[in-house]
Amino acid sequence: MTCEKEPASPDPQGSGSDSRVQYPGWYTSEFQTKEGTHYTIRPIRSDDELNMVAFHGELSEETVYRRYFAPLRLDVRVAHERLAKRCLLDYPNEMALVATYPGANGEEKLAAVARLIKIENTKAAEVAFLVSDKHQHRGLGTYLLERMIEIAKKDGLEAVEALVLTENFDMNNLFRRAGFKFLAPEGSTLMARLELVPTPGC
Ligand SMILES: CC(C)(COP(=O)(O)OP(=O)(O)OC[C@H]1O[C@@H](n2cnc3c(N)ncnc32)[C@H](O)[C@@H]1OP(=O)(O)O)[C@@H](O)C(=O)NCCC(=O)NCCS
Repeated sequence: MTCEKEPASPDPQGSGSDSRVQYPGWYTSEFQTKEGTHYTIRPIRSDDELNMVAFHGELSEETVYRRYFAPLRLDVRVAHERLAKRCLLDYPNEMALVATYPGANGEEKLAAVARLIKIENTKAAEVAFLVSDKHQHRGLGTYLLERMIEIAKKDGLEAVEALVLTENFDMNNLFRRAGFKFLAPEGSTLMARLELVPTPGC
């Protein structure tokens, strides 16, 4: 696992519109599947709102249910007030990485969103993942989980955790492989938690 370093100067490829804090462009990376499909992974930007609307429009009901534990309607998911908050981040407290790929006309499209949200007054963060149906089972979830663990360590966090449906075998397998431990299920959900060991040099 590598440890990325912050650049000395602001990233010129940053959004330019997120004036509150510097855009953390140093978390941009490339991922290629075994089959050769290529994705760019980068922090979300405030101008990703329309990308997010299109992304949500491609999700199946099952994928939505697994992420939100409820059948959250499309119009609720893409409401401007909601998406604006999820695209314009206070990066020191919250990080979201998106996986992008070129659409048929060369436009940028989103295949996945991963979030890491610090839990107030703790040294832990919550993680959550959403890969659109046609991009699942290509390794994106595994790659994004690795990136989130790397970011959490770099930020000095001591643990990451996630609430997940007991029946969500894809996500639970990913967590298990990454070394997460599971608390006893409560109802239909369980808590997965990974205690972090700092990476030397980070
Ligand atoms: C759970 C979720 C994030 C997993 O993402 P993903 O991108 O499908 O995950 P991966 O591709 O890394 O791994 C999933 C499976 O595909 C396999 N896989 C990975 N690359 C592959 C490839 N190139 N070809 C075929 N299979 C592949 C993995 O081995 C894994 O299989 P296994 O668990 O049976 O061993 C995704 O399914 C999702 O968004 N689900 C709905 C929302 C959700 O559940 N969110 C979690 C809430 S915290």
